[in-house]
Amino acid sequence: MKPKYYITTPIYYVNDQPHIGHAYTTLACDVLARFKRLDGYDVMFLTGTDEHGQKVEKAAEAAGIDPQSFTDKVSVTFREMAEVMGISNDAFIRTTEERHKRACQALWQKLLDAGDIYLGGYEGWYAVRDEAFYDEGELIPGPNGSKLAPTGAAVEWVVEPSYFFRLSAWQDRLLAYYEANPDFILPPSRRNEVLGFVKGGLKDLSVSRASFKWGVPVPNDPDHVMYVWLDALTNYITAAGYPDETAENWRFWPADLHMVGKDILRFHTVFWPAFLMSAGIAPPKRVFAHGWWLIEGEKMSKSIGNVIAPRDLVAQFGLDPVRFFLLREVPFGNDGDFQRKALISRMNVELANDLGNLAQRSLSLIAKNCAGVLPAQGALTEEDTAILAAASALPQTLRTLLDRQNFHEALEEVWKVIRAGNGFIDRQAPWSLKKTDLARMADVLRVLADVLRTVATLLQPVMPTSMAKMLDQLGVPEDARDIAALATPLPGGIALPAPAGVFPRFVEEGA
Ligand code: MSP
Repeated sequence: MKPKYYITTPIYYVNDQPHIGHAYTTLACDVLARFKRLDGYDVMFLTGTDEHGQKVEKAAEAAGIDPQSFTDKVSVTFREMAEVMGISNDAFIRTTEERHKRACQALWQKLLDAGDIYLGGYEGWYAVRDEAFYDEGELIPGPNGSKLAPTGAAVEWVVEPSYFFRLSAWQDRLLAYYEANPDFILPPSRRNEVLGFVKGGLKDLSVSRASFKWGVPVPNDPDHVMYVWLDALTNYITAAGYPDETAENWRFWPADLHMVGKDILRFHTVFWPAFLMSAGIAPPKRVFAHGWWLIEGEKMSKSIGNVIAPRDLVAQFGLDPVRFFLLREVPFGNDGDFQRKALISRMNVELANDLGNLAQRSLSLIAKNCAGVLPAQGALTEEDTAILAAASALPQTLRTLLDRQNFHEALEEVWKVIRAGNGFIDRQAPWSLKKTDLARMADVLRVLADVLRTVATLLQPVMPTSMAKMLDQLGVPEDARDIAALATPLPGGIALPAPAGVFPRFVEEGA
């Protein structure tokens, strides 16, 4: 039986149109999902939309439509974003679906049965933009003597009856879980942040709201809807079939990875495992918090007018270069600055020059000098062996790095081999060997084809379309494009299609 892998994106609030920040989270998951499939895993990759709560209710009101029609409309734009970005999700969940309400209510019942939910009253600060409660001490000064949430969001004073989750009782058990699972939270700096927060003491958490209606009703108390984060987090188990633990997809739980942005770390690493443990359900295995993108040095915002829509970016630069750039440019976990000139430079240097030229040079020499037929494997020199060994080591290196969500280094490792390939072709100069040693020329080109095959196979998760083209040109059959297939050499003598450049240089208009 195949090993399983369950990976999730956060579910996106439908108050906003999709932008590059959303695309980034989803893309990172897509690359991991594709890599795991390539490596023989049975993968479930989930994304979706977060449709309840005050923030969405207000956005619907502002748009002048009822919340259900509003969420129907905006949710579609997130499905479209997934298409535009070439995302291979297996499932898409909306929190307004019936199955999800059932799951939330079943989970609520479990928390109640465990004695972890009680009725009280909430009096304190709430930020609708963050859908989060804040303590007085966390607030920062705002304009005209006002107070703001630490994120800069406006806060309002809320007084209402509320159900509470006994989070304070979970401090030790959470700390024990972090201790026993040192890689539960990555990167390590985020883990320390969470440890500090939990060690500082936990207060009970308000988990229902009574002042508006747009949410999942609390069982047996129609005056309350569930706090949107309890509702939202539950999506990850709804999609796995909860509360039906005999459902086919339940085999995927616990999730292997919840990918999130750094702003929503606490919800996923403190509240969520506490809810699950209280309900007797295993917590997820890993939460990875990535950083945020600035745009040319500035925060992305509607008021600045610098919000980048994934569709526009892809239309201008092409899908694969955008996918590559987003994961290559910034060490995953850090904040990054999106600079147009950096994207163009990566396209021209690493895609067009390094990889594109290596493929084009090797394949066009095979086309011209080997009658377009892949040479058989020949006798290997020391240098041949060295570069083939570097390529063969890549799958294991990538497994290790990607299991820690280290895209940046994984790509660097592939590029080391690509650069070595360019050094190899320059030194071996197969174009000169044509006149002096035809047999050696064929051997050199075969080595290059093998290196390219490995590289193109492993880069498929990042650049699926371009790498499919490259594998076509290398004569790799469609059923031999996974990692396991790399162990079987391609037969010599197969006719290759005419080579064509995969990565054109990007030339600025008017340049
Ligand atoms: N609905 C909640 C998540 C619930 S998950 C159970 C939510 N939604 S969101 O739409 O506001 O944000 C979703 C993700 O987009 C977050 O992981 C957030 O970090 C990410 N990003 C939003 N803007 C971003 C950037 N500028 N850069 C990178 N990621 C950003 O939070």
